[in-house]
Amino acid sequence: MYHNTRTVLKLSIFPFRHNKMLSEARRMSSGSTPKTFNLDLIKNAYPRWPDWMKKEMASNHAGEVGAVNIYRGANTALWMRSFIFLSPAEMELKKFCARHLPAEEDHLRWILGAMPSSNSSWLIPLWHLSGRLLGFVAGICGPRIFYVVTETVETFVEKHYNHQIKLLEDDNDLTPEERQETHELLTAACADEVHHKEEAAGFASHFQPRFYDPVIRAIVDIGSSSAASAAKYI
Ligand SMILES: [Fe+2]
Ligand SMILES: [Fe+2]
Repeated sequence: MYHNTRTVLKLSIFPFRHNKMLSEARRMSSGSTPKTFNLDLIKNAYPRWPDWMKKEMASNHAGEVGAVNIYRGANTALWMRSFIFLSPAEMELKKFCARHLPAEEDHLRWILGAMPSSNSSWLIPLWHLSGRLLGFVAGICGPRIFYVVTETVETFVEKHYNHQIKLLEDDNDLTPEERQETHELLTAACADEVHHKEEAAGFASHFQPRFYDPVIRAIVDIGSSSAASAAKYI
């Protein structure tokens, strides 16, 4: 444990400066095949995007900004806690965040590449701040709470992406190639979110549930759906 704590201290002493480098290293070590999409094809079709797609992509952008910041907020919380002590469960949470953050950064990069910046929500700074705060508070509260929050957020995001995939399948505004590329992007992001949800649920199941968990889930679910809706219109 002494060596583990020392290692965490050494690796995380400058979390912000090394964040990009660590994310790249984790992505390379994850063994997952990098996914590539013809993002320009999707972006160049913007004048023909149906109205629902403009709104949903703005919402996706806001959601992925929030997701990246949830994990960065948790990393900051764990970094602060590491100065005192990191339990085995907290060490496991650190690995969990290290696996998921690169995927969320990929999603954000995909959405940003597939969408003109003019389609962004005006509230992005708010989703940045609220995601960071949620991740930090959940991380400070401990692994169990963080897994419950992550499972709830990802359950919402899975439904959010599936709704768009269904709308896309019924769309006639895009060309078949544009529709196919957008479909692949949304499906890949959704598959990652399902994986995140299942992993969080698996880790959460190692802990004794608490009577207030439904309250946490309800607050996070209402917050996620409100944020997603607001990003479509503001
Ligand atoms: Fe994501
Ligand atoms: Fe995710």
